[in-house]
Amino acid sequence: MATAPAALWSSRLAFVLAATGSAVGLGNIWKFPYVAGESGGGAFVLIYLLCVVVIGVPLMMAEILMGRRGRQNPADSFRDLASESGARSWWWLVGFMGIIAGILILSFYSVIAGWAMAYVPVAVSGGFTGADAATISGLFGDLVSDPKRLLFWHSLFIVITIGIVSAGVEAGLEKAVKYLMPALLGILLILFGYSAASGYMDQALTFMFSPDFSKVTPQVVLSAVGMAFFSLSLGMGAIMMYGAYLPDRASIPKLALAVVSADTAVAILAGLAIFPIVFANDLAPGAGPGLVFETLPLAFGQMTGGWVLGTLFFLLLVVAALTSAISLLEPSVSWAVRHTGLNRKAAALLAGGTVWLLGLGTVFSFNIAADFKPLLDRTVFDLLDGLTSNIMLPLGGLLIAIFVARFMSRKVLGEELQLEDGLVFKLWHFLLRYVVRVCIILVFLNATGLLPKALSLIGVEW
Ligand code: PHE
Repeated sequence: MATAPAALWSSRLAFVLAATGSAVGLGNIWKFPYVAGESGGGAFVLIYLLCVVVIGVPLMMAEILMGRRGRQNPADSFRDLASESGARSWWWLVGFMGIIAGILILSFYSVIAGWAMAYVPVAVSGGFTGADAATISGLFGDLVSDPKRLLFWHSLFIVITIGIVSAGVEAGLEKAVKYLMPALLGILLILFGYSAASGYMDQALTFMFSPDFSKVTPQVVLSAVGMAFFSLSLGMGAIMMYGAYLPDRASIPKLALAVVSADTAVAILAGLAIFPIVFANDLAPGAGPGLVFETLPLAFGQMTGGWVLGTLFFLLLVVAALTSAISLLEPSVSWAVRHTGLNRKAAALLAGGTVWLLGLGTVFSFNIAADFKPLLDRTVFDLLDGLTSNIMLPLGGLLIAIFVARFMSRKVLGEELQLEDGLVFKLWHFLLRYVVRVCIILVFLNATGLLPKALSLIGVEW
């Protein structure tokens, strides 16, 4: 339909690297292990994997498809596809909500990425070596309670992100992921190898894969769904945006499967690299957001050569965060180029500047404004994290599923997916049309407490 945008990925591999770069991030290495740890391990992991297969794969295909057919930023792709499909014009707002979600996510994402950056020099200079638990948690406490340091690293991270995005699709995004993704995989494998040799792999495997269903609460289900969206970069148009730069003939189902598998593999691998170290050192898997910052350095500090491993680990986090950050910023930059007449550099500065400013809310929520809990007794960081992962992304995903399955014609869908109207197509359409929708709605009802109430009316306790 729409003509191809001026910029395209130079190859399918470039798309896979970029989309995998977007998906693999702090979500996999920082968030997944600590949320799994907090939510009791196996049961959470199982629900997460189920969400990835049933919701993640069909939606990933839907987003890539919409992007490639719309060939613009999510808001304008939605607008054109709505007019092509005879749907109402307000659908563009769904794409726009995604752009806003990207800005909100990046505002706190950048602060956490800043923590990882701050830990690199600490690790290099042997800051963990021989330190006891109190010293290590002191290091973390000192960092997050120092607004100036957080501000410095947050700013640096945003500046680098702006730099890459303003260089454009091929010279910026593609070049960055080409080098960063293999580096990331290499570092992760080294860490995994170390953990495999630690003798505590069995415990980690049991923790991650033997589900204890008594731990499953509505909240755990909601976090597993939210985690799947966040980790796969779905529901806000990042993948749609990358799909817009995809060459015409690339097979969308294959690419989607590759990206989802890679992301899931990295999350599991990260868990299996981290939990053996946690167990080997008698640390708590449910330590919360500080898990990789407070518990791992303790382990690094006790190993011979641990400073090398520690440095590698935090570099890994920074690299993973950077390739995700560019995908969070790109939709707003592409939108601004189109609608404000600014060039790419100026648009990147404007969008990045907005993110930086919003990020101050998260920076201060760990120190001078830690007691500022404007809503639900939560800090600004907690609110942003909850609002985006648990509400905006699933809601965006729900609306994308409805739009694609209800409004776009089967002919167009088959054409884009290069699938005959056979079993695979039917299964995909069914998942998108019913399963994704029902799951997300149930999860929302569940989280708001409406589902348990309705069930108790018919005598079922949940
Ligand atoms: N998927 C990224 C991660 O796991 C975060 C992200 C969310 C990126 C949404 C883009 C869009 O860290």
